[in-house]
Amino acid sequence: MKENVTIRPMEKGDYNAVAALWASIKGMGIRSIDDSEEYVCRFIERNPLTSVVAVDGDRIVGSVLCGHDGRQACFYHVCVAEDHRLCGIGRAMVDRCVEGLKAEHINRIYLIAFKHNTGGNSFWRQLGWECRNDRNYYELYLNDENQTTFIV
Ligand SMILES: CC(C)(COP(=O)(O)OP(=O)(O)OC[C@H]1O[C@@H](n2cnc3c(N)ncnc32)[C@H](O)[C@@H]1OP(=O)(O)O)[C@@H](O)C(=O)NCCC(=O)NCCS
Repeated sequence: MKENVTIRPMEKGDYNAVAALWASIKGMGIRSIDDSEEYVCRFIERNPLTSVVAVDGDRIVGSVLCGHDGRQACFYHVCVAEDHRLCGIGRAMVDRCVEGLKAEHINRIYLIAFKHNTGGNSFWRQLGWECRNDRNYYELYLNDENQTTFIV
């Protein structure tokens, strides 16, 4: 990883910079409510140590929202700025989240990667994660106002 890049826990005050990073990531789906400042801060309050940002100087160049429910963990919005990719930042952020989850005695992490996201799926395979094809993913929307916008 670039030596001037550091990984640290994400704080509520990082929201604007992280949201700006998300808005620059092609293919990222941003939810109007779940990804609002209020909801992201609520997520960080519930999981204060497990989400991370990668910082280069005073710029946030990567982030992972990571939390658990006491049983298993989920990663959301794993991303690295385009001009900082392929130098180990994604792997370093994932490693840091994994360490944090192990410290909280969590035994399993899951995440969703769209099938068409070739780069994202290559990344997870390269990191040794298992792609499950033997399961169906179910969801139930509870709030029609929580709309997703994809970054193009
Ligand atoms: C996926 C993403 C987070 C990877 O971040 P990164 O910092 O470039 O990844 P790293 O440099 O840590 O790469 C780790 C390994 O994955 C491999 N890898 C990363 N991106 C890859 C790609 N697009 N294609 C093939 N391999 C890739 C690297 O070669 C590296 O392998 P190595 O350790 O054997 O050298 C970044 O490309 C990104 O933000 N993509 C857009 C958002 C996204 O798709 N997120 C995942 C959603 S599920």
